[in-house]
Amino acid sequence: MANTFEKTFSLGGDYTINRLGYGAMRITGQGIWGPPKDKAECIRVLKRAVELGVNFIDTADSYGPNVSEELIAEALAPYPADLIIGTKGGLLRTGPNEWPVDASPEHLSEVLEGSLKRLKLDRIDLYQLHRIDPKVPAEKSFEFLQKAQQQGKIKHIGLSEVSVADIKKAQQFFEVVSVQNMYSVDNRKWEAELQYTKEHHIAFIPWFPLGGGNVQGEQILQRVADRHQATIHQVALSWLLHHSPNILLIPGTSSVEHLEENMKTADIALTAADMQELEALNVAK
Ligand SMILES: NC(=O)c1ccc[n+]([C@@H]2O[C@H](COP(=O)([O-])OP(=O)(O)OC[C@H]3O[C@@H](n4cnc5c(N)ncnc54)[C@H](OP(=O)(O)O)[C@@H]3O)[C@@H](O)[C@H]2O)c1
Repeated sequence: MANTFEKTFSLGGDYTINRLGYGAMRITGQGIWGPPKDKAECIRVLKRAVELGVNFIDTADSYGPNVSEELIAEALAPYPADLIIGTKGGLLRTGPNEWPVDASPEHLSEVLEGSLKRLKLDRIDLYQLHRIDPKVPAEKSFEFLQKAQQQGKIKHIGLSEVSVADIKKAQQFFEVVSVQNMYSVDNRKWEAELQYTKEHHIAFIPWFPLGGGNVQGEQILQRVADRHQATIHQVALSWLLHHSPNILLIPGTSSVEHLEENMKTADIALTAADMQELEALNVAK
């Protein structure tokens, strides 16, 4: 028998999010640095995503840097009323594939102002701390976010790559509405964090849901995919939709074709036997 899954999730209690969203890190150059090879296609991807029902887009000032946020504004502003753009701050860029952490209040202040300008927004609906900075007491970063929320610059606050202990600490400063950790059918290191967020109605937003395009365990995925006339990428995404109702998907792509394929995941209903078979991929990396 086919399993059913919730199509939407209520973020922060006031935004109804289509669980199939879009991650906008890939609309940049190689090494997530500079402009994309095909800007026109990236603009088409953003517009098509919204046409297909995406109302949650994930980005960060560090993607490009700035490029992803600028393209989102160019393609979509003025935004549809129900579109939620989640951006992030807390990483510096020093070159292609280089991401030093800086979650000092000074840096966060600078990048939050930059994101507001680039995204052409008066308030960020979801602002996520990209990383807790080992050089900065987490409390300092949390206090900055709390203050920015009180000032009305941020509506909701999320975290990225955090443990349950980190989430609990942040909850002393503000309501945590989302947690964005690396997670996929074949990488379940953060299972305890997923369960904690599920119990507390916090969105869990797995990054690298397709392993960056190289999903592992191809044979098992292919067997399941064949039964549904689907692709291995769709099955990898579908498993996430079925696994927990608080998971929001943000697969990244710079291609309309891949976007359309990923959005069709909503039509796949995995069976209990499919889910059981996919358990063979359960490893914590
Ligand atoms: N919080 C964090 O620290 C963090 C870190 C990394 C990423 N993120 C966020 O998470 C999002 C998703 O992660 P990700 O983009 O790194 O990895 P991903 O979604 O696992 O994979 C994206 C890669 O897969 C390819 N792809 C997408 N759909 C495909 C399909 N249907 N068939 C074949 N290949 C496909 C894309 O290539 P094409 O462009 O050719 O389609 C792209 O290179 C990012 O966009 C970003 O918003 C957050």
